[in-house]
Amino acid sequence: MTEFAVPLLDVRSDTVTRPTAAMRRAMADAEVGDDVLDGDPTTRRLEAVVAERLGKERALFFPSGSMANQTAIWVQSTPGTEILLDADAHIIHWEIAAASALCGVQVRPIRGAGTVFRAPDLIAGIRAPSIHAIEPSMVCLENTHNGAGGAVTPLAELRALSQVARDANLPVHLDGARLWNAAVATGTSLAEFADGADTVMVSFSKGLGAPVGACLVGSAEVITRAHRVRKRFGGGMRQSGILAAGALYGVEHHLDRLAEDHEAARYLAHLVDGVGGAKVISPDTNIVMIDLPTPRADDVLARAAALGVRLSKWHHSRVRAVAHLDAPIGRVAEHGPKIAQALAEALA
Ligand SMILES: Cc1ncc(COP(=O)(O)O)c(C=O)c1O
Repeated sequence: MTEFAVPLLDVRSDTVTRPTAAMRRAMADAEVGDDVLDGDPTTRRLEAVVAERLGKERALFFPSGSMANQTAIWVQSTPGTEILLDADAHIIHWEIAAASALCGVQVRPIRGAGTVFRAPDLIAGIRAPSIHAIEPSMVCLENTHNGAGGAVTPLAELRALSQVARDANLPVHLDGARLWNAAVATGTSLAEFADGADTVMVSFSKGLGAPVGACLVGSAEVITRAHRVRKRFGGGMRQSGILAAGALYGVEHHLDRLAEDHEAARYLAHLVDGVGGAKVISPDTNIVMIDLPTPRADDVLARAAALGVRLSKWHHSRVRAVAHLDAPIGRVAEHGPKIAQALAEALA
């Protein structure tokens, strides 16, 4: 099977987007300074806008969501304790054991009865205090939840989870890499979603289409400590305004259009659900997880690539398609049927 040099449709991830001409112009024109020395004006503007939108005192710009997540864990957990997360959390599966390697904590995966863990699952996961038991030191949530197919944890459920953590005296970090999608899909504001969390990470390099970056938001006190840890992790960036300008452009111009990605994902899901026995998790937002009846993910990917469509492998029996800025609904409508064709062939 031959691969297309330039795919007709690349839906491996919403991170494959390239900055638009207007975003590149905003980046080229950005006013900059030395952010490590005494602050970069555009980075400060981005941080002020993001803190305001999320209803927190301060935001801090990071080169990546992973570094922001790990900084949040460093400043709010204690080495030799455990942090409690949903079993399919990004922090568990895709951050190369950073929580243990860098922060010295054990991750405690909590498997919920449904797709994403809920308050009763968290209650059951908090160990009774004992000289023999590991102490918990924080809770990490994820909204939307990548591994659960971009699932939104609704506000009421999020509040219930935060309350459980608060009752147990545990700080809450929210991995909100795609919190933008949750807000657009539900009409719940970013600030309402952020309210029950002590720190929140939001990413600019996914649905918003910026090339790089994330922010960590929280109280002035926690972000002041995070600033020192970012420096320790090597995340101090000098003329970061060039990157911050791309992120700011994404926040100001690409937020509302996420609704189109959600529509494209629903369309794709409808197109492929049931083909060859494949089952789709009905998408709340822009991620379409396709569960295969047999472990043929590699074959599905190869056949789709031969038809000009790139998908990603989640595991041997699951492939993922993600709608985004560079895969507009028209292109998804034109080339999406090739995914159904690849599934039908691979699963025949
Ligand atoms: C839910 C979630 N959290 C965190 C990250 C990490 O972000 P970054 O790739 O910027 O490190 C990702 C990236 O895909 C993600 O999907």
